[in-house]
Order: sequence, then C-alpha cells, then structure tokens
Amino acid sequence: MENLIQAAYFLTALLFILGLKRMSSPGSARSGILWAGWAMLLATLATFLWPEMQNFALMVIALAIGTVVAWVAAKRVAMTDMPQMVAIYNGMGGGAAAAIAAVELLRGDFANSGLMALAGLGALIGSISFSGSLVAFAKLQGLMSTRPILFPFQRIFNLLVLFAAAAVGGYLLRDDSTYLIGLFFLLAVAFGLLMTLPIGGGDMPVVISLYNAFTGLAVGFEGFAIGNTALIVAGTVVGAAGTLLTLLMARAMNRSLASVLMGGFGVEQASGEVKGSLKPIDLEDAAVMLGYASKVIFVPGYGMALAQAQHKLRELADVLESKGVEVRYAIHPVAGRMPGHMNVLLAEAGVAYEKLYDLEDINPEFPNTDVSVVIGANDVVNPAARRKGSPLYGMPILEVDQAKNAIVVKRGQGKGFAGVENELFYADNTRMLYGDAQDALGRLVQALKKL
Ligand code: TAP
Repeated sequence: MENLIQAAYFLTALLFILGLKRMSSPGSARSGILWAGWAMLLATLATFLWPEMQNFALMVIALAIGTVVAWVAAKRVAMTDMPQMVAIYNGMGGGAAAAIAAVELLRGDFANSGLMALAGLGALIGSISFSGSLVAFAKLQGLMSTRPILFPFQRIFNLLVLFAAAAVGGYLLRDDSTYLIGLFFLLAVAFGLLMTLPIGGGDMPVVISLYNAFTGLAVGFEGFAIGNTALIVAGTVVGAAGTLLTLLMARAMNRSLASVLMGGFGVEQASGEVKGSLKPIDLEDAAVMLGYASKVIFVPGYGMALAQAQHKLRELADVLESKGVEVRYAIHPVAGRMPGHMNVLLAEAGVAYEKLYDLEDINPEFPNTDVSVVIGANDVVNPAARRKGSPLYGMPILEVDQAKNAIVVKRGQGKGFAGVENELFYADNTRMLYGDAQDALGRLVQALKKL
C-alpha cells in the first residue's frame, strides 16, 4: 500500500510542476490550474489510504465544509476582489501548516530534536502567514483602514516580538509544557499581525505573495516533520514560486522588498510641480480622433478593473477595427492591483492574446501611434518615473507621452496608487475624457457608430 501512496504522491508532484509550467502562458494557464487541482485531489485521496489513518468521519466532514465554502465563494467573487480571496485562502494554508505543527509539538517526540525544530520553524512561519494574511484580507475587503497603521518604535517592538517568539520556540526543545507551546503560537500570530499593520492596502498584493511563499515553506517544513513527500514537494514548489513572484512584483514597482515590508508607503504624498492645464475633450471629438486614426494603442489600468469596462473596451476595439484601425493593447506588469490583472480581465472580454503587448515590445511603437487611449491607468503611464526624487523613480512606464495624441479616460482628478500628480495629463497633446470608464467607453462606441 505504501508504494501505491508514494506513486500517487510522485504523480502529484509531477502534475504540480507541469501545471505550474502551463500557468506561465495565458493560453495554457487555465488548464495548468486544472492539472494542479487534479493533483491536489489525487494527493488528498492517497492520504486516506495510510493504514494508520483515523477519524475518517471528522476528516470527511471538514473536507465537505471546506469544499462547499470554497466552491460557493470562488463562484461568487468579483474579479476585483480576487487579491483578498487569495489572501484568505493563503492564510488558511499557513494556519493548516501551523495546526499540523501544533499537533506534532503537543505530541512531543522530542527524542528527534531535528524534526521538532523543523516542526517549530514551520509553526512560526505558518502562524505569521496565517495572521498576516488575515490582516491583508481585512484591509483589501475594507473591513479595516487600508492606510498604514504606524506607532512609535514600531520596528523595534515588532523585532522584539519576533525574537521572543523564536526564543520561546527554541526553548520548547528543552521544556515542552503546553502553556509554553501556547505562548509560542501567540507570539508568532501577534508578529504576523504587527508585521502587516504598517503596510498600506496598495502594497498588499506583494505582501500576500510573500505570505504565499511563507505558507509554502511552512508546509514544506511540516512535510519533513511528519515524513510526507507530497507536502514537501508542494510546499517547496509554492515557496519557490511565491518568492519569485514577490521579487518580480517588487521589481516591476521599482520597490525593494525591504521598503514594502517596512511599510508607510503612501502616507507622505509627493506634491510635485506640474505645468500646464487639463484639457477636456467631448465625446464627438474623441470619436472623430479615434475613427480617423490608423494606429491606436489602448492602455488599461486599475480604473478599468474598478469600472469593469473591459467588455466595452473590446466593443470599442471591434468598432475601430471594422473601420480599418489597427488596435493593440499595452500591458504594464503591475497595472491594476495583482499580477496579470489586465490579462485576466481582457481575456474574460474575449480579447485575443496576440493583441496584448508587453511593455518592452510596445514602447517602441508609441511614437508611430496616432492615438493612445489610457483607460483608468495612472502610475504606469506617469513620466515622473523618469525623474529622480519621485516616489515612482525608476519604475518602467508605458511611454504614452511619446504617442502623437493621448486620450485619458478617468472620472476626475483622482491620483494613482502612488499618489503622484501625472504630467502626462497636462501635456499639450493629451485630452481628458471624464467619466466612469464603462460609461464613457459605451458612449464612445455609440458616437463612433454614428460617424
Ligand atoms: P493607478 O495608478 O492606481 O490609477 C488608477 C486610476 O484609475 C486613478 O487615477 C483613477 O482616477 C482611475 N479610476 C478609478 N476608478 C475609475 C473608474 N470607475 N473609471 C475610470 N477611471 C477610474 O492604476 P495603474 O496605472 O493601473 O497603476 C497600478 C498601481 O498599483 C501602480 O502604482 C502599481 O505599482 C500599484 N500596484 C500594483 C500591483 C500589481 S501586482 N498590479 C500590486 C500592488 C500595487 P479617478 O479617481 O480620477 O477616476
């Protein structure tokens, strides 16, 4: 029987890795998720086959509740709420790893101190991921303020709590009294909370990705502690993927991971002098400008996601293409609030992948573009990123300011995530089309059809 279980775990690991590989391209990502899902099911079923397994009824009830809640939640969640959904699931993963560790610590096979140390390490990291992810969820779901919560001597205090947790964890190898185990978990959970409070809502996706890596590590450590290869492989894969994603996101925002974790971003808003004035355009003029263009580039951002304007954008592209206009979409790696945010929304609206262009590929095209339409994007097109001293300095941008003309669709004078004024909006060849993106694009489509 054990050989059969190990073979199932091996297949699981293979499917996880192949699934992850398939997730690296939009065309195959959907099937990649399914492969990984089947792998998870296989590992779960195989685990039931262990001869020493007990409490079947309890496990089946827990699985049934978890499956129903997750199924209903996933069916209902809006695309814009996806980051907090990932946060809560990830928190549950960290909590589950910590729970396994709690059982091992309470069981206290302290003859094997190496394995116990691994269980303790997993418990620490899993608990931090659990409570930190819950704060991330609460901030993104609007259950608490998204602004960084700061207090004096915060970093020193947080470090002390972390050291205390590590010290109590280490001491457990000598004295495994239940109250010390309780104190250890309390300190670890408290550190997760404290670590996340000073981080603003906008940085949460990076933090969630980091906690995702933490959860992977915790699961991997618990896999070693209880001798389960499926947990070791799954945990390592998640840990590695989460770490890479975290670093990629931080780099695309031109922030160091340390600066994200230290928090406080977005508290002091840079004012930044901007010359010129905002020049509105009316619908008919915008329609004429677009209808008679030969090359158009759309630049979607967070506002398109908020307005759920992707379907209207696709409609606009269809109308323009029917008039012989060449339409492309420029995708910035951190447009929106989660990795691949724009790709997912545009794919949902049926936009062909070949029309989506990455930053490096599309930037040389802007000077030959008649009109670039910015739909609810701000920071990712802000030329301030080229200027030293700006909070955006160094972030690669989509060079809309190089296009012959730009139309910016947004509701008013709202700033972007970084809170920096955008000089693109004041440029001579930029026109502002004010309104909710879905509504404005819908009216633009009608105006174009009448041309
Ligand atoms: P933002 O800079 O956040 O700008 C969004 C703009 O959309 C705002 O200026 C807002 O202006 C407009 N808007 C909001 N609701 C709208 C609606 N209903 N209709 C039309 N416009 C609307 O967006 P971005 O350019 O996509 O940049 C993303 C930012 O988030 C970057 O700074 C990035 O570093 C950060 N970030 C990204 C990620 C990932 S992984 N994507 C993770 C964390 C942080 P009005 O209020 O005037 O309408």
